[in-house]
This record gives sequence, structure tokens and C-alpha cells, in this order.
Amino acid sequence: MSSYLISGGHVIDPHNNTNDIMDVLVEDGKIASVGIGITSDKSSAEVIDASGKVIIPGLVDMHVHLRDPGREDEETIESGLRAAARGGFTSVACMPNTEPVIDCASVVEYVKRKAADVGFGNVFPIGAITHGLKGETLSEMGELVKAGVVAFSDDGRCVMNSQLMRRALEYSKMWEKPVISHAEDSSLAKGGQINEGYYSTILGLKGIPAAAEEIIVARDIILAELTGGKVHIAHLSTAGSLELVRQAKERGIDVTCEVTPHHLILTEADLIGYNTNFKVNPPLRSSKDVESLRQGLKDGVIDAIASDHAPHARHEKEMEFDYAPFGLIGLETTLALIITDIVGSGVISLSKAIELMSVNPAKILGVPKGSIGVGDTADLVILDTNAVLEVDPAKFESKSINTPYAGRKLKGVVTDVFSAGRPVIRDGRFVSEIVSLTNQ
Ligand code: DOR
Repeated sequence: MSSYLISGGHVIDPHNNTNDIMDVLVEDGKIASVGIGITSDKSSAEVIDASGKVIIPGLVDMHVHLRDPGREDEETIESGLRAAARGGFTSVACMPNTEPVIDCASVVEYVKRKAADVGFGNVFPIGAITHGLKGETLSEMGELVKAGVVAFSDDGRCVMNSQLMRRALEYSKMWEKPVISHAEDSSLAKGGQINEGYYSTILGLKGIPAAAEEIIVARDIILAELTGGKVHIAHLSTAGSLELVRQAKERGIDVTCEVTPHHLILTEADLIGYNTNFKVNPPLRSSKDVESLRQGLKDGVIDAIASDHAPHARHEKEMEFDYAPFGLIGLETTLALIITDIVGSGVISLSKAIELMSVNPAKILGVPKGSIGVGDTADLVILDTNAVLEVDPAKFESKSINTPYAGRKLKGVVTDVFSAGRPVIRDGRFVSEIVSLTNQ
């Protein structure tokens, strides 16, 4: 296997408290050394000049919809992994709302096998809490754990039956797996299209109140306390939810939460044009909520940033607002959005942002990722934080184009990606494409 000496880059590795100009030596798929003035014993090591660039651990996106199996027109495991690599993510956890649902071992095995066939990147399947996501009976959680799921969720739907949620937390505790809560009281949210408030009124769209989320966040915190299980709140979007998580953490309850870039950057006011690419669940909230979430990043209540990459077919998004599905894609824009709008405006440092997109999600999911330590698997990303990324959906690796950011110019371009020591992207190009060009 080839060796690489990545030299003179700014290594940001929050897990090992590294934030300095250094070299990284990759041998046999692992990190062989990190330090200043490294030389390789292996004369064959290719030297990669990373001066002026940042070297970070391969990022971990803990909330991705890969749509495979079932909606391969929207995304496949391969296109999803390519989109992930383009965005600096070498690991993704995929949600079970596929067709069929990831609620039995055979579907977990299918996802794992297809990911292995792609040959780069890690896919960590999340198993359904309930059979078919129907919210009626628990899935075979033990069988799913044996097959390799890293967490449980009915994401896209809320488990409204509190007794089932209690049992899910009790069982998942046996394997120390988190239960990821899609916190949305379905009776309060029913028929809703956007955040309930001034904008839902003037746009004539039915609102989804903040309370629909907060009631379930409160319930799930109470159930985590009752059971001692681990609850993780997905796509937390309101100031009230954040306050509930803050208080729960102060009381020592095992709760974690993630936010998405869109809930940190966009607001309900962006819906003025009825553009369905801004239709997402939970909905874009008020500027006050956005401010609170940004504060939550600053003071450490928020554990992770995740894309909630939710591809949808073009013809389905090109519908009247009420009929379009909820969701937007994010794998290829999350890192640059966070660098530009969150780090760039001084909310948190780049190192903190990397921690929220690598170390912390890896820890929540219990996967050995997000670190550039000697002996670690060499999942690495080289990043040019000054280069400009113009968001052009036509150039996406994803099979879908439902982004609200088309045309935006962002800072932060991923130039190189290594997955288990193998180059996936070099100088901005997928290695497979470089090989096919040289063979022409
Ligand atoms: O907007 C969303 N889309 N929110 C979810 O929770 C599910 C997702 C999807 O699967 O499309």
C-alpha cells in the first residue's frame, strides 16, 4: 500500500489537542506519525505539500439519508459517499427511512456490502426503532445491533408512543447505543408546512409550532432520566429545545443534540419566495431561534453539527409548496457553510467546528473516527480554507439538487481526501477519474 507524507499543513485535530503546522505520515492505511520535520523511512512515500492548507480528520456526518435501497433515483450509497467525500466527510451514519426500512439484519447487511463495494468511506447504518417506522412495535433491536447498527432512530417520524420510546431506551442501553429522537409531536405538527408565526400567517401556509418539537424533547429527556438510556436529539431547531437540553445536561442526564447548518444560517423569512428547496423538517425557524442555536454552539450545549442530507427527486420538489416533500441536501455544502457563516462570523473557532463534525459525532455513535493519532486509520482531509466554492448544483456528486444555497460563494474547498490511507480525491479530482484520464 502506498505511503504519503503530507507536509507542512496546519493540522487541526481537536481529539489530540493538535492545532499547529505539522507533517502527517500515512503508512499501511494508518497514521504512522504526526509532528514537525518528519521524514519517511519508506523512500517510496509520496510527498504532498499541504502548506497553506489545513489537515483535518475525515469528518463524520451523523445524520444522512442515502435513499438506498428504494429511491436510487434520488441517491445511491455510491453517489452519497462521493458527495460526502467532496464535502470532507469520510464517514456517514445513514437513517433507516429507506424502502425497505433498515429494520432487519438483511437490510443492514445490504447497506454495509454496498458501501464496501464503493471502496472508500464508511457507512454506519442506523436501525429503525419500530418495525417499518410505523411506531407500533419495536424492531428486533438485538438482531440489528448484531448486524452492525450504531444507533436507533425512526427519523422522519416521531415515536409518539411513550411506552415504546421508553422500551427502546431501556433495550438500547444494554448495547450502549443512542436512540436518536426525531422530536415532533405529530398531532401539533399535522399538516404544517413552515414554522408557525408571522411568516406562516402572511404566506398563508399552515404552521408547525416550536412546541411540537419542545414537547417531545422534554418527554425524551424525562424518559432518558427514567431509563438511564442515551437519547440524542436530531436536528434541534428551537431556542426552547436548546434550553431543555441545557437544563438536562446540568442535571446529568445522558442527552446529546445536533444542529444542522440550515437551522444555524437560514430563517423562516427565507420562505418568502415559496422556494421548496427551503422546505425542511423541522422547519426553518425565527431569527431569535437561530441566535440561540449560535449561542448554544458557543457555550457548548450543542454536541454536533450534522447535514440532515435529504435528497429528493426534482419533479417532487417542483410542486406547489404544500405538496413538496420536506428536506434539503447538505453533504457537499455543510463544511463550507460552517466555515463561511459560523467560523467566519466568529461564533466558534475552526477547531471547535471540526470537533462538532468529527470527534463528537464519532463519540456519540461509538465509532473509532475523528482523530489523527498515531495508529488511527488514516481518514484525512486537506482543506483550503481560503479557496472559494461556488455552489453549483449541476456539479454536485449527489444525484439530487435540492439545495437552498445555489449560486452562493462560500469559503472552504476540500482538495484531498484519504480514506483508510487510500487517496479518494487528489487536487480536487476523484482518483478514479484521474486513473481513467491517464488510461485514455
Ligand atoms: O426534512 C426532512 N427530510 N426531515 C426529516 O426528518 C426527514 C427528511 C427526509 O427523509 O426527507
